[in-house]
Amino acid sequence: MYNEKVMEHFMNPHNAGEMENPDAVGNYGSPVCGDMMEISLKIENNVIVDAKFKTFGCGSAIASSSVATDMIMGKTLEEALELTNKNFIDELGGLPGPKIHCSVLAEQAVRHAIYDYAQKHGLELEGLKDFD
Ligand code: FES
Ligand code: FES
Repeated sequence: MYNEKVMEHFMNPHNAGEMENPDAVGNYGSPVCGDMMEISLKIENNVIVDAKFKTFGCGSAIASSSVATDMIMGKTLEEALELTNKNFIDELGGLPGPKIHCSVLAEQAVRHAIYDYAQKHGLELEGLKDFD
């Protein structure tokens, strides 16, 4: 059901765990299954310099968190906001159809973390315009 790359990120996820004194934290719970993801960020000069995740969810959600945290590191907040779950799925080489929505957890947790940062610092980011 899962390809090798997904299995690899599931068995050895990158950036899993707790972060001390994060600059921003985002949580998102899936309306579909009730599973949850939390993403913590360190941000310097508008660039994401570190990212960590905690995921209470299935293997697809864990693999998605792993690639998502890898991919946002080194990106500006604006660049990170442009990434969608589709980018994470592509990076994983695909997810089985019924598991695609699990990758939305990663997209949304990243957006919530950046939103948290923008709120704290009074930033207006184009990519957060439609965010509620
Ligand atoms: Fe809940 Fe995938 S995150 S089934
Ligand atoms: Fe919940 Fe996949 S079933 S996110």
